[in-house]
Amino acid sequence: MDVAVIGCGYVGLVTATCLASIGHRVRGVEKDQKKLARLLEGYSPIFEPGLVGLLQEQLANGSLSFGASINEAMRDAEVVYLAVGTPSKPDGTVDMTYLEAAGKEVCDALATIQSDYLVTIVVKSTVPVGTNRKLYYSLRQNSKLEFQVVSNPEFLKEGSAVNDFLEPDRIIVGGESPEAFRIMRRLYDPLIKTEDTFLTMNWESAELTKYAANTMLASRISFMNEMSILCDAYGADVEDLRKGIGSDKRIGPAFLRAGVGFGGSCFPKDVAAMEHISRAIGHENLFVEAIQTINKSQKRRFVEKIGTKLGRPLAGSTITVWGLAFKADTDDIRESAAIDVIRYLLEGGANVRAHDYKAMDNMREVFTDQVEWMQDPVAAAAGADAIAILTDWPQYNTMPFRKISATMNQPVIFDGRNCLIRDVMRENGIRYYPIGRPVIESNVRVRSSSR
Ligand SMILES: NC(=O)c1ccc[n+]([C@@H]2O[C@H](COP(=O)([O-])OP(=O)(O)OC[C@H]3O[C@@H](n4cnc5c(N)ncnc54)[C@H](O)[C@@H]3O)[C@@H](O)[C@H]2O)c1
Repeated sequence: MDVAVIGCGYVGLVTATCLASIGHRVRGVEKDQKKLARLLEGYSPIFEPGLVGLLQEQLANGSLSFGASINEAMRDAEVVYLAVGTPSKPDGTVDMTYLEAAGKEVCDALATIQSDYLVTIVVKSTVPVGTNRKLYYSLRQNSKLEFQVVSNPEFLKEGSAVNDFLEPDRIIVGGESPEAFRIMRRLYDPLIKTEDTFLTMNWESAELTKYAANTMLASRISFMNEMSILCDAYGADVEDLRKGIGSDKRIGPAFLRAGVGFGGSCFPKDVAAMEHISRAIGHENLFVEAIQTINKSQKRRFVEKIGTKLGRPLAGSTITVWGLAFKADTDDIRESAAIDVIRYLLEGGANVRAHDYKAMDNMREVFTDQVEWMQDPVAAAAGADAIAILTDWPQYNTMPFRKISATMNQPVIFDGRNCLIRDVMRENGIRYYPIGRPVIESNVRVRSSSR
């Protein structure tokens, strides 16, 4: 089928590339000139495992192309995806500027294009309940074409996005037109393993399902972060708790890791949106408020712990941050816990050095010269008073800790992701502070107390 994908960010680019890889002819539309230039050269503007190879393959075989014009991309398209960003406004409501602007261009195109087939407009962006219905009725006023609108929320995870798209747990399509459902079923056919992975429902249910899924996942993380406070206080181990409750089939093991708090482009904004969706009907959603409050305080609590356990004043100390991306295997720093933690450290007067495998350029735009940017995590630790781990890049687990311990000013690690191995810390004389797990405080070797 001929497909247009409007917006080639994390979701749109993965969608466009993967749809091309299962046999569709896809035209991606990207307004950002820098990103478009990269795409036209055959490179991905984002880091996502497996994406570049697939992208280059589809470009080479002609099933994928890119441009800047929505009108042009829609000329032959039977299916048109809207995959633009829907970020949070400062008050937590959803910023619909990009979707409205793209919707207006789609509307203009529908008014000019002549075709004799049904065009299906697919809203892939995460949008407030009621958006798809509103879009359908506003487009109807102008269109000469026969068209339908469906909601098709995306559930991919950054870091495994290509795989998630090609092997979805489920595909949700919300709408009112059986014909549009049939078109979407045909489009996704190679990805549908069993009939119950293709779920159709009305627009509102599909829109709310997306927010409900992210709120549920975020709530599990906040729940475990609350448990980590009890574990710290009573000497329990939050990892044992995770295994203990996660092995119950009714609970399951996913999203039960305690840490410095969730971030990313989805959980914080979708939970905030859920609060506003509730408020819009006059309902004060105490559940989502709690998820957010816990998540915010977790970052503050982490820095307070550094302040009290460092063994010297935070002001003037050097703290090396390992990990800036909101999770491993991505360069995305949107709402990353590292942003708040670094800000609090700087406010406390610490000198901050930072390392990440993929996200350093993005974070440099936030903190410019307030932070010392380090290409090598081992060199970043030399002379530091502590390391704070904020992203669970697996490489951090295999660092030469003997050397690191010997070159730090004092060997102290605050593990905000519980990703290091305790015995390795103990063997290397490192004072180790995970979250909700027993600390290692003995064997401390302090090299100098002069600073
Ligand atoms: N990132 C995720 O993990 C994820 C997962 C599921 C759902 N979502 C949802 O998917 C949507 C997109 O998220 P994202 O992370 O891909 O955002 P993004 O910011 O990475 O990408 C959006 C892209 O759209 C482009 N754009 C904006 N207006 C345009 C227009 N008029 N024409 C052409 N291009 C335009 C932007 O330049 C940008 O490259 C959001 O609603 C988000 O909530 C994201």
